[in-house]
Amino acid sequence: DWTMDRFIEIEVEKIRSTVGDRKVLCALSGGVDSSVVAALIDRAIGDQLTCIFVDHGLLRKGEVESVVKTFSEQFSMHFIKVDARERFLNKLEGVTDPEQKRKIIGNEFIYVFDEESAKLDGIKYLAQGTIYADIIESGTATSATIKSHHNVGGLPEDMDFELIEPLRALFKDEVRAVGAELGLPEEIVNRQPFPGPGLGVRVLGEITEDKLEIVRDADFILRDEIAKAGLDRSIWQYFAVLPNIRSVGVRNEQRSYDYAIGIRAVHSVDGMTADWARIPFDVLEKISTRITTEVDQVNRVVYDITAKPPGTIEWE
Ligand code: XMP
Repeated sequence: DWTMDRFIEIEVEKIRSTVGDRKVLCALSGGVDSSVVAALIDRAIGDQLTCIFVDHGLLRKGEVESVVKTFSEQFSMHFIKVDARERFLNKLEGVTDPEQKRKIIGNEFIYVFDEESAKLDGIKYLAQGTIYADIIESGTATSATIKSHHNVGGLPEDMDFELIEPLRALFKDEVRAVGAELGLPEEIVNRQPFPGPGLGVRVLGEITEDKLEIVRDADFILRDEIAKAGLDRSIWQYFAVLPNIRSVGVRNEQRSYDYAIGIRAVHSVDGMTADWARIPFDVLEKISTRITTEVDQVNRVVYDITAKPPGTIEWE
């Protein structure tokens, strides 16, 4: 792609002349924006870049492995993975209120990032994956907070770094094109929107390792069947939630009392409004059959047919 080639060339030059021989830090979430920023800066200055990836234990199946593999093997940056799974789970123990959960996850992320970056010497710049839509959205703040959003862009302002935001002028599809051009794998380039608090807001109520595993396995099956049906590019966002409800069922002529899984799939342009996707019944049937047979402790699957508004896309 000629335009993206040119964009990369120009930005690489800019980053080189700004940074000189100094060092840059980047918080990597595995999302499209932070991944593309990391790859772009790597192209410009290689091992003067350090990326910190916080594994909060709330990512989907296979995501941690994919991020680690991509960034530790394919690039020359310093890549630090912080295993903070236990730390997040401990902080979240017994917490059921959705906003409380979001705040704890957001704050904990900042503490971990702070601690890790304090161990590094001589960092001058902080790279962020701010894109054009982020700038527009923060300019039109609404009066009421529906959900306190958390993402890796939300780092504390008192950190002593200068910001580098090379994607500020790009739309999402352009960011994806740049990522592809830089050699990022397709599972990262075409990643669906994913909330900063991750599966933390898809396990309703108290988060436990057990419940995370259930939702992770169910979500993996859902993604697999959506891809097999060729719907992965046409549905904007799709995922499994664990509503923390158990109901009675029957398996092998035995009574069961297990969890229900909710399937959420939506069409949207910007996440502000959404309509539920009309997934064909035969695809839904496969999803339901596989989830109830392959995932322990699940005996029921329900499909969310709510638009936004009045529903939100995530359940918490
Ligand atoms: P809701 O649930 O508010 O979600 O309808 C709209 C879109 O935003 C995503 N989302 C988030 N993204 N940090 C993010 O970066 C967050 O805290 C967050 N919460 C929700 C959600 O997945 C959907 O695409």
